[in-house]
Amino acid sequence: MRVLGIETSCDETGIALYDTKQGLLAHALYSQIKLHATYGGVVPELASRDHIQRILPLIDQVLAQAKLKPQAIDGIAYTAGPGLIGALMVGAMCARTLAFALQVPVLGVHHMEGHLLAPQLEVNPPAFPFVALLVSGGHTQLIEVRGIGKYQLLGESLDDAAGEAFDKTAKMLGLGYPGGPKIAACAAEGNADRFRFPRPMLDRPGLDFSFSGLKTHTLTLTRQLAAERALQPQDIADIAAGFQQAVVDTLVAKCKRALKATGLKSLVIAGGVSANQSLRTRLQASLAGMGAQVKYARPEFCTDNGAMIAYAGACRLQAGQSDDLETPLRPRWPL
Ligand code: KG4
Ligand code: ZN
Repeated sequence: MRVLGIETSCDETGIALYDTKQGLLAHALYSQIKLHATYGGVVPELASRDHIQRILPLIDQVLAQAKLKPQAIDGIAYTAGPGLIGALMVGAMCARTLAFALQVPVLGVHHMEGHLLAPQLEVNPPAFPFVALLVSGGHTQLIEVRGIGKYQLLGESLDDAAGEAFDKTAKMLGLGYPGGPKIAACAAEGNADRFRFPRPMLDRPGLDFSFSGLKTHTLTLTRQLAAERALQPQDIADIAAGFQQAVVDTLVAKCKRALKATGLKSLVIAGGVSANQSLRTRLQASLAGMGAQVKYARPEFCTDNGAMIAYAGACRLQAGQSDDLETPLRPRWPL
């Protein structure tokens, strides 16, 4: 079965073709980062308008890459939520119109299920069951995954998501948008031990997270420093490094706790923050010590993309699931 995947939940138009026998045939992505950079974050109306402009040329591009005609598509999957409603509508309308014209089944996919399953596109994919750490701009969740659709929430952030904390801290430090990669690059030049950052909620039992305190800590710290003298690039790099290390330490500790609680030896990290090299390296070293392993997708499939939606959709369409053309979109949607 050949499935066209369409992702438009936020600021990336992602299109891909996945074949259940041959694997990923083609994928293309248009990122709106430059469009939103001036505003320091995503402007929903601009995002929707840009998806409208990009979506059809990208579908043509993916079909051309795969040397296929639209008639070769056997099913279509689109992101039905969570996300920005206008942006979701662009993808959904395009998917449903194409499916109606081609007379093929169409299915709305959960964006976070897409992220969760993205590492399945890699060689040597993770086998079920595993613990998943979903870390994106909107979510920080630990989930026990027993199979497709068999998800049990173990813990989540009580306030900001990890990616959101990266984005807000980067903005505060004047590093720009999106914050994750900017902080990571800046932190590489910094000394993580110069400033002491808290490790939120590690002293409490359980698997929930809290990241808003780290952001406040950064604000207080930068204000204190700035009151003494103008901040130098090295100060910013040291703050970025201290902040990143605090987030990574917290995520690593909770992942280890989740593995112990479930008795599982396999961890999957997914979502934009799973592209973070420091998180990957620290998890690898730390889990090896307890006989467990961590798996993740290639960096371009950690952030939003069409391949993960094509894959998640293919799994479900192949199992006989599909939507009717009126299924509502879900800007908020628990996994
Ligand atoms: O999964 P994603 O592309 O979109 C959502 O579903 O939210 O995640 C985007 C988030 C942003 O907050 C971005 O700053 C963060 O992932 N991110 C990173 C890195 N790359 C992206 N955070 C830390 N380190 C990175 N290398
Ligand atoms: Zn995402």
